[in-house]
Amino acid sequence: LTTQPSQLDDLTKLELNPWQWWRDQMPITTRWAYLDHAAVAPLCEPARRAIRRFADQAATLGDTVWPQWNATIDQLRKNMATLLGCDRNEVCLVPNTTTGINLVAEGYPWKPGDSVVIPDGEFPSNLFPWVNQQSKGVEVRIVPRVDGEVRVDDLIARVDDSTRMIAVSWVGYASGFRVDLDDLVHKAHQRGALVFLDAIQGLGMYPLDLAQTPVDFLAGDGHKWLLGPEGAGIAFIRAEHLDTLRCGNVGWNSVKNAYNYASPSMELRADAVRFESGSSNMVGAAALNASVELFLKVRQAHGQDAIEKRVLGLAGQLDESLRSIGASTRLPQSFQNRSGILTFEVPGVEPNQIRQRAADQEVVVSCRAGGVRASIHAYNDASDLDRLVSVVRQCKTKDSGH
Ligand SMILES: Cc1ncc(COP(=O)(O)O)c(C=O)c1O
Repeated sequence: LTTQPSQLDDLTKLELNPWQWWRDQMPITTRWAYLDHAAVAPLCEPARRAIRRFADQAATLGDTVWPQWNATIDQLRKNMATLLGCDRNEVCLVPNTTTGINLVAEGYPWKPGDSVVIPDGEFPSNLFPWVNQQSKGVEVRIVPRVDGEVRVDDLIARVDDSTRMIAVSWVGYASGFRVDLDDLVHKAHQRGALVFLDAIQGLGMYPLDLAQTPVDFLAGDGHKWLLGPEGAGIAFIRAEHLDTLRCGNVGWNSVKNAYNYASPSMELRADAVRFESGSSNMVGAAALNASVELFLKVRQAHGQDAIEKRVLGLAGQLDESLRSIGASTRLPQSFQNRSGILTFEVPGVEPNQIRQRAADQEVVVSCRAGGVRASIHAYNDASDLDRLVSVVRQCKTKDSGH
């Protein structure tokens, strides 16, 4: 007797074909070819269920189930630590990446004359918090990209004795260029600079073991590649730097005796949760936790680099198909610098025209940096890519008057 696919249990499906297993948990796929995960991702089914469950509980049980919610946010910190290869005490929840960046930029004990190095073309969230330190006498050194690429040696060349920090996006939001973190961290530390990583465009997708790659600080939200809702993210502060950062945003939840409201004592918690300061985004954290568990399951069943391989494979396929119909694509040369983001142009066709035509056919992409940005997830498949290629072909045909 052969077993029908529908009869297979969840674990067997995950083991046999993790991408179909994942796709089955993405309600978006029933209608849309969604290739815009670098903007705001669709929710996965486990996250949707977690939000519904939370809403039901909050409406019918109020805070009588608060300990359960609190256990879930603790689980999220723990799951994030597993995902990143760090200690749970080094993880705190933040409302978004920007808050995590400010936590470090504002908390660092700058002295006049200190400097920070960042690449040109960063998303504004990884620019303004550093520029804001200029009023404390900090010099912000902006290093040009070369063909959209962040060259580690160019960053390092701007590091001198005054440099305290290099702040960089793991994956460029428009270029899709993924920085070689091992090389960056090694060279930065050799020169005495710390590394801050804006990880939002990479979290979950590419292997990162913070025990092996000693990034100093990191922040990212869950609403892009992690398939969670907006407003629920995490920050990582390496244990040795916890006391380096001034905890500027303190509140009841920052201290050891957090529930002793009547005789408060401002003794900060030993872990990174001191930076959370007040009530948590319980519903957002519950949803993010549910989606992070999905990533952990795939990694556990198929290896730490399975998601990376899948997504780079799909990006490679799209790159080839688009080039075969005359589009010019901007895929980084080296495999290790690639990501799920592929930006392209079609000579003679406005990027926005392609985006609009795609939207009309329920294919979602964005326009960035003068091109069309497709951002592909591991649950996307060849049919999603084909739908985008078909849109581009139509735009070309229409434009050339055929
Ligand atoms: C690299 C990068 N950093 C930060 C952000 C903004 O993140 P958040 O809204 O979580 O602060 C984005 C959003 O597109 C981004 O691409």
